[in-house]
Amino acid sequence: MALSSRFSSKILRSTCRLARRYLCSSISNNNVTFPERVFSGIQPTGIPHIGNYFGAIKNWVKLQDAHENVMYSIVDLHSITVPQDPAVLRENIMSMTACLLACGIDPDRGILFQQSQVPWHTELAWILGCNCSLGRLDHLPTWKEKSAGMKDAMLGLYTYPVLQAADILLYKGTKVPVGEDQTCHIELSRALAKLFNNRFGHYFPQPEVLLTEAPRIKSLRHPDKKMSKSEANIKSRIDLTDSPDEILQKVKKAVVDSQSEITYDEEGRPGLANLIGLECAITQKSPSQVCEENIGVMLGQYKVTLADLLIAELTPIKLEMERLLSDRHHISNIIEKGRDKAMEIAGPNIAEVKSLVGFK
Ligand code: TYM
Repeated sequence: MALSSRFSSKILRSTCRLARRYLCSSISNNNVTFPERVFSGIQPTGIPHIGNYFGAIKNWVKLQDAHENVMYSIVDLHSITVPQDPAVLRENIMSMTACLLACGIDPDRGILFQQSQVPWHTELAWILGCNCSLGRLDHLPTWKEKSAGMKDAMLGLYTYPVLQAADILLYKGTKVPVGEDQTCHIELSRALAKLFNNRFGHYFPQPEVLLTEAPRIKSLRHPDKKMSKSEANIKSRIDLTDSPDEILQKVKKAVVDSQSEITYDEEGRPGLANLIGLECAITQKSPSQVCEENIGVMLGQYKVTLADLLIAELTPIKLEMERLLSDRHHISNIIEKGRDKAMEIAGPNIAEVKSLVGFK
């Protein structure tokens, strides 16, 4: 009995492997097969922190090796859902491009582009928005979080998940590597794709989320919250351009509990679990392996080791970013080429969408 159940679970595992291999090359809904396309985006709102890096960007780099069609967008239209100084925004678009390149995004293997340079994102967002009830947006946690405490929250902040769906669907994106906080937006993208398909024919794929092993890096000051650019205290996060000393100081000051041995307990010891999660994201070790290797090590000592690992991971990125930013012309060229490549895909798609809707 035990043998036969082991045998059937072996068959199940190999069937799953085959299914995964198939899904790696295409995705099929309602007998329509869509070629696989990885799509993701990041807002140019300053230097990314290690939450952005381990939760998304590092995965983007890996996905370039595994997939033929990858597209990454600097989503500047999203960034103006909160007020931006134009000069700072312009600079942030440059530095975000340099940062993604420094992290290993290769514009020759995939497409790296600035969202606002492709005019059809907003056009598709309008079409999708005309098929999206207010109720679908009301309950989104990001809206609740971001609008809380605002006297006059803006329309763009409310509807930006529809724009995000348009970002993905404009290119018929099938896989979306993001951190856990974005999963509700990908769910909405799936729902909007389905609504459109039901009304106009099976045109869009249903995009799927790809999470990393570190989908939610927590704040170093409040380990119950995610690490975020919007937290006022800069000690709550490590930015990719922090100096070795800043990294060391921030890790040393990270909020943990009073026990000193190294054990992994997400619920009971969230601060330490977050730090161990960072080590795992760098070394690909499991939390139990990290704990085993640190039996007898005191927490203070562990923090110094972790800071060293972070410094080794981030310093080459910081240096490469500085090098890239010394040649802005090169960065502008990359953005221009990215726009052309993105438009080649988006142009025919938006034309078909318009025809399905009845505009022509
Ligand atoms: P943004 O710019 O806030 O964040 C970029 C990516 O970083 C991930 N992330 C995290 N991952 C783990 N731990 C954290 N503490 C953490 N903080 C941020 C985010 O999940 C995200 O993957 N709306 C999106 C941008 C966007 C987009 C898209 C993404 C616009 N259009 C289309 C995918 C597809 C955003 O504001 O990400």
